Amino acid sequence: MKRSCYCGDVKEDSIGKELIVSGWVHSRRDHGGVIFIDLRDREGIVQVVFQPENKEIFSVAERLRSEYAISVKGLIRHRPEGTVNPNMPTGKVELVVSELEVVNSAPGLPFEISDYVDTSEELRLKYRYLDMRRPSFQKNFIMRHKVSQEIRNFLNEDGFLEIETPFLGKSTPEGARDFLVPSRIHHGSFYALPQSPQIFKQILMVAGFDKYYQIARCFRDEDLRADRQLEFTQVDLEMSFVEENDVMGVIERMLTRIFKTALNIDVKTPFERMSYCEAMIKYGSDKPDTRFDMFIQDFCEELKNSGFGVFSNVLAKGGVVRGMCIPKGSQLSRSEIDGLTKFVGEYGAKGLAWMKITETGAESNIVKYFKDEEIKAIISKLGAKAGDLVVFLADEEKIVAQGLGALRLKMGKELGLIDKNKFNFLWVIDFPMFEWDREEKRWSALHHPFTSPKDGEELTAANAAKIKAKAYDVVLNGVELGGGSIRIHKNETQKKVFELLGISEEAAKEKFGFLLDALMYGAPPHGGVALGFDRLCALLAGEESIREVIAFPKTQKALDPMSSAPSEVSEKQLKELGVRIVVKQAKN
Ligand code: AMO
Ligand code: AMP
Repeated sequence: MKRSCYCGDVKEDSIGKELIVSGWVHSRRDHGGVIFIDLRDREGIVQVVFQPENKEIFSVAERLRSEYAISVKGLIRHRPEGTVNPNMPTGKVELVVSELEVVNSAPGLPFEISDYVDTSEELRLKYRYLDMRRPSFQKNFIMRHKVSQEIRNFLNEDGFLEIETPFLGKSTPEGARDFLVPSRIHHGSFYALPQSPQIFKQILMVAGFDKYYQIARCFRDEDLRADRQLEFTQVDLEMSFVEENDVMGVIERMLTRIFKTALNIDVKTPFERMSYCEAMIKYGSDKPDTRFDMFIQDFCEELKNSGFGVFSNVLAKGGVVRGMCIPKGSQLSRSEIDGLTKFVGEYGAKGLAWMKITETGAESNIVKYFKDEEIKAIISKLGAKAGDLVVFLADEEKIVAQGLGALRLKMGKELGLIDKNKFNFLWVIDFPMFEWDREEKRWSALHHPFTSPKDGEELTAANAAKIKAKAYDVVLNGVELGGGSIRIHKNETQKKVFELLGISEEAAKEKFGFLLDALMYGAPPHGGVALGFDRLCALLAGEESIREVIAFPKTQKALDPMSSAPSEVSEKQLKELGVRIVVKQAKN
């Protein structure tokens, strides 16, 4: 039987026609001698009716079970009065079967496809081919396809060239951990899978390929989270003879087009811009969720002479004191506040100071340490009202920002302050070039070591903390959607930055010599950006995890339960590669 159309496409205009559809048995109902099957394919579900008059077909239909693959031929008719389903696109029609072919049967299912509830992720990924049959999943993938096509259309129209870069490259320090591939031909040498096409796209600019793009697979051996996978996809682009605004403009126009196509939403441009410094203070995050206010405020000035030892000690040591007002938080019980203390403890905070705001002032175990003016200043700066709870962290800046930033998000969610229909785009700009790595006791690049400092910055170690970069991140609803920068295009500047990063001249030559060489040959000023394509699709689909928009993701433990990757390999393979396993980990 040759299919005439998809199940989801059988609409009223097919009434009276004889059609053939193929798909999977989504559900089966026996109704007093008539069997109804919801037949499902990629495009949707159509109701199929087996009448008892046709005994031979009927008896086969009685044996159909969930997820059997079948083809049916029959007349499309209007559903009888009272049986129309307005919630289904094909809800007005049904197919009355005259021929049936059972293409393939299926054993009992590990989980229900039709109403997936709390199946464990492990099981879902083990039977991913069943999991992906879910209509909502198929919708996500059809959307992902449309978005990637639209991105290509947009960039092609804008004059970008799609160019591929290698997967087998050179391992370079900085960034995340590399995935290594042993070379069979050169024993003891390894290729690294690209963490991004960064260096290659810069070299493409030196090569004169202005306006490059690639929907590129990237590999990073990092710990997995809801928004992180070992391999993920970037919409990667690079342009020559440009400044920050040129690159940001392309991204704004591209995202506007994507949101119009995918969700019919008109995005307002230009996007709001916020300095990194403001984001870190007000939101405790370099990817602020601006859908709700609840701002963090700094109290270093107001509380510098407070009688509360915890605060004055921290301030004396160069730390910071910041606070936040939790609306109606006074209702929280002591044990609930202890819970919040434990929560910020996960970010390194040593405690959480709090005050319940009343009509006349504030109440808590620490209020006695503060002068009236100090309490007044706190209440006024935070705009706190009677019934609110004010909380403080005192510590080094990073811990305070992270702790309060995370608490802000948690409370925003719990208090229902986040409007799920909002799409708040934001550029975070004016990033510092370097951050101090306490473990390694050296400066490290906040973006990557190829990012250009702002014009006129003095590139010395003494000045390192203050140097700002020509970098920008695009943030949507608290998710870092993408990041980029204008790059260093002068060999001397690049050398100086490596030096500040503690990369010796020999090491720089060994690791990045090819880039330094390229920069000597008339490298144009250039810059670019990369968007996390999986994160973009998850946001468009309203999914919390990028695993819902990736066909075959890994679990939290970096495993593929379907194929059982990673797996051991044969002695012969190892020998060919000149690799010997020294320590074997116990399998969990
Ligand atoms: P960056 O490292 O910021 O920049 O990556 C760009 C974007 O890629 C996404 N992303 C990820 N998505 C899923 N899983 C991961 N493990 C993961 N890591 C990153 C994020 C992020 O914003 N070469 C530079 C870009 C440039 O400067 O042009 C780069 O890779 O959405
Ligand atoms: P203590 O002086 O240890 O009894 O602490 C008094 C209050 O201050 C408690 O509510 C602690 O949770 C809180 N606290 C302790 N250390 C900090 C800190 N670094 N930042 C904010 N609050 C703190």
